[in-house]
Amino acid sequence: LLNQQQHKFYEVEEAVKRKLNIEHCRIVPGDADKDASVYQFLGQVVHLILDKHLPEGDNVVAVTGGSTLSKVAESFTPELSDGRSITFVPSRGGLGSSINIQSNSVGSLMAQQTDSKYIPLFIPENLGKETSEILLKDPMIKEVIDMSKSANCLLLSIGTANVMAERREITDEQQEIIENGHAVGEAFGIFFDSYGETVLRYPRIGLKFKDLSNIPLLLTIVGGSSKAKAVEAFFQKAPSHGWLICDEGLANMVLNGE
Ligand code: G3H
Repeated sequence: LLNQQQHKFYEVEEAVKRKLNIEHCRIVPGDADKDASVYQFLGQVVHLILDKHLPEGDNVVAVTGGSTLSKVAESFTPELSDGRSITFVPSRGGLGSSINIQSNSVGSLMAQQTDSKYIPLFIPENLGKETSEILLKDPMIKEVIDMSKSANCLLLSIGTANVMAERREITDEQQEIIENGHAVGEAFGIFFDSYGETVLRYPRIGLKFKDLSNIPLLLTIVGGSSKAKAVEAFFQKAPSHGWLICDEGLANMVLNGE
């Protein structure tokens, strides 16, 4: 099915690449906002791309968290580790109360699905500056953070500002900053407006936005037309060398606003 669809979406993929200024784009049919089976297609495409582009030998794949990546992980199979070794590392600590969509859980699920290794990072994500500095001196924690920063691949997703504000259990004061600053999206603890400008930086430990340019294989995976504004804003500032793997609903919303 995916091969048949490839031709169908070629023009749309080219248009999305031009509009968002990104090197690679793959689109799967449907709209994840209306049909959750779309995540299976997203997962299969991500699997194909990783299988094609992860080199033989040792690989470190860093992962953010969220429901998208957690569902994408379900389509991964042990074939991905044929002829190569993969270590999945979380790019950040825990967040909110949903354990199964935390970076740690997503990395662990991907490792299980692909018969690969996994290194956990058991720290809360939202820490004050002083606590972060102390924790970063711990050799085990530092090692995981450094590993995610020097990963040869990163799988990330983008959230809408309102959903992520709720998930991060932000204070009333932070909520006001997000609203007054017209934040549309969130990634890596940064809430950004439609120009990609930072509205609120959530104090956190882990991979940072500025680390993205050093990661050779960068896969941004997003489903659902409701995330179009967040995706457009993210790519205003994101490096252009990566991939966007999204669904038809999101791509049409980016291109035509519908
Ligand atoms: O970290 C969360 C992502 O940025 C988006 O989360 O896949 O649940 O929408 P999601």
